[in-house]
Amino acid sequence: MGSLQTRFMGLQLSNPLVAGSSDLTSNVDSIKRIEEAGAGAIVLKSLFEEQIQLERFKLEEDLEAGNDLYGEMATIFPKLQHAGAKEHLMWVKKARAAVKIPVIASLNAVTRATWVEYARQLADQGVDALELNFFATPRDFDVAGGSVEDEQLQIVREVRAAVKVPLAVKLSVFYSNPLNIIGRLDREGAGGFVLFNRFFQPDINTETESITQPFNFSIQADNRLPLRFVGLLHGKIKADVCASTGIMTGADVIKMILAGASSVQVVTGLYRQGVKSIRTMLDEITRWMNARSYDSIDAFRGKLSAKNAKDPWAYTRAQYAKMLLNPKEFTESVKS
Ligand SMILES: Cc1cc2nc3c(=O)[nH]c(=O)nc-3n(C[C@H](O)[C@H](O)[C@H](O)COP(=O)(O)O)c2cc1C
Repeated sequence: MGSLQTRFMGLQLSNPLVAGSSDLTSNVDSIKRIEEAGAGAIVLKSLFEEQIQLERFKLEEDLEAGNDLYGEMATIFPKLQHAGAKEHLMWVKKARAAVKIPVIASLNAVTRATWVEYARQLADQGVDALELNFFATPRDFDVAGGSVEDEQLQIVREVRAAVKVPLAVKLSVFYSNPLNIIGRLDREGAGGFVLFNRFFQPDINTETESITQPFNFSIQADNRLPLRFVGLLHGKIKADVCASTGIMTGADVIKMILAGASSVQVVTGLYRQGVKSIRTMLDEITRWMNARSYDSIDAFRGKLSAKNAKDPWAYTRAQYAKMLLNPKEFTESVKS
């Protein structure tokens, strides 16, 4: 029987299926259930800058009525009195002790000082690695893309120097050239890339004429975007790539590995199909590997990456042009 063992930025994982950061990884009971279901690792719910700042404000008794920043934070984190940074750090330590599989803490900060200070504090809780969640939605017309990237590089440089544990960076796809920023972060010592983050997007309720913030679950077809970048990156960077978004089945995991990923993260799949679906996905991968006599993940990892595929153009513009210039070829299968 083939082995599902793999690695992610130096961590040895019993299999490539990682439970991604979400509310499912925010309490000890559910992370134990995730481990029992067979996950290779867990990324804990992120610690957010807002939690840190609000706790700071509270300590300084700086909560002026009508203070804009406080108002925004209190709306985002209505239960924040129970979720300050200190409490989060204590919980991270408990979570690390509660399971045997690798536990990765996650941080989403804003200021450089907070990134560095809390990366260090999270690492001090004994976690196996850190994930920096670079969630940044544009809202300032005057900030050039290049300066956002330079700041992110500086953050990785400083965090890298401040902690010993392996460092993953979870990115959105919203860069003019994601390959460029990934290459530069790779050279700064990021050991892993999680591709991609999925932002919560606002919606509008036309009945009440109000803005809503629905839960942002993915669908399976969303996994084609990370698949493209995983395929393009294989063999081009030192870091390991963990594919994320829209991974629902064992076949989705296999596709990502064929493209070059060494692991995947699953969130929506666990919400929709239950934590036990981890076992179903692992069984599916094992069956597939056995049927083809693959004895390890590395035996087929990257086989269909841009570097190794027979048709390397499949990942690039040539395929796009081919599809648009020969639509019949592609639409015929839809009609039949
Ligand atoms: C309810 C919920 C909570 C989430 N919380 C976090 C979080 O705290 N930190 C983070 O980096 N990503 C968070 N995410 C994003 C997921 O980790 C993941 O990147 C995204 O959902 C895409 O993966 P999926 O298609 O498997 O859901 C959250 C997603 C959901 C649905």
